[in-house]
Amino acid sequence: MEYLYDQYQRKHDYLRLSITDRCNLRCVYCMPKGGMTFFPRDQVLSQDEIIQLVKNFVALGITKVRLTGGEPLVRRDVVEIVRRIHEIPEIEDISMTTNGLYLSRKAHELREAGLDRLNISLDTFKPEVYKQITRGGNIRQVQMGIAAAAKEGFKQIKLNVVLIKGQNDDEVLDFIRYTKDHNVNVRFIEFMPIGNSEEAWSSEFVSLANVFDQCKAAGIDYRPIRLPGNGPSDNYQVPGYQGSFGLIHPISGRFCENCNRLRITADGYIKACLYWNEEINVRETIGDFEKFRQVIQQALDNKPLNHEMALSDTDQIVHEAPTWRHMSQIGG
Ligand code: 5AD
Ligand code: SF4
Repeated sequence: MEYLYDQYQRKHDYLRLSITDRCNLRCVYCMPKGGMTFFPRDQVLSQDEIIQLVKNFVALGITKVRLTGGEPLVRRDVVEIVRRIHEIPEIEDISMTTNGLYLSRKAHELREAGLDRLNISLDTFKPEVYKQITRGGNIRQVQMGIAAAAKEGFKQIKLNVVLIKGQNDDEVLDFIRYTKDHNVNVRFIEFMPIGNSEEAWSSEFVSLANVFDQCKAAGIDYRPIRLPGNGPSDNYQVPGYQGSFGLIHPISGRFCENCNRLRITADGYIKACLYWNEEINVRETIGDFEKFRQVIQQALDNKPLNHEMALSDTDQIVHEAPTWRHMSQIGG
């Protein structure tokens, strides 16, 4: 078996595949206010290309795939894509990051097709705040989606909570208390300055140290736990609670050191690091495995040790440009 390593001996077995750049929301941290011009359809990888691409990656040692977007559930053939990836024997785990709006309709089919795990974006419990953060979304739809998913026996459901100063940082304890009776992992994520979000970022960033401060002030006891999988989060549980919570600190913590992920954009470029502009077109090589392998290895050889978000307080020289893409065009 072959494996993909970068120059820092990080083994890469996890592929994040953006299957569309389209989305039915326009979250403030992810898309510009005026919305996006989406890629024309023929610029987006077809279902057959996606499946061949995953097979190529499997031959290079990838065993875990996450489907992302935009919003993956706006793609009409999403269930078929899941099913075909699930049919590849070497694939051990298929997950999806979704805003949950279409989940009440799709959760059952997705689970049946072989989707193992779900990450659902929900930054607040307040309908008005949800509307504001997502620029128009109806929280009821996500809540129904989460309830529908909870019945389907997914191996794991996580809620993604990007903390934004003055908008939802007063709900940290509400999210932790939610894990008392809900078997979910709430993941508090630091707001990252990617794409358009840079301006808002400096005034709205909240360090995750804040989560512990709030727990301590409220007398909430929490213990570190280990969850299956090797994502970048540190996880905790309040004794007696069904669920757990995790912290993902791309800015204030170590995030890159165990990075095992490669990203493919909906238009078929490989991004070895979500922050940098460096990307290579793989679409042209999907049908030629040797070329494909070369391109993937080239991307890995150029993969930086770290992203600039984490370098800003060090003396390391940054000689490349950050990505031109918005987060919705990378897939988180
Ligand atoms: N900072 C942090 N996380 C982000 N996401 C999107 N944009 C950002 C950002 N600027 C993540 C959120 C969302 C997922 C789709 O991508 O966690 O749930
Ligand atoms: Fe859409 Fe997700 Fe980006 Fe929000 S975070 S705009 S739901 S892709």
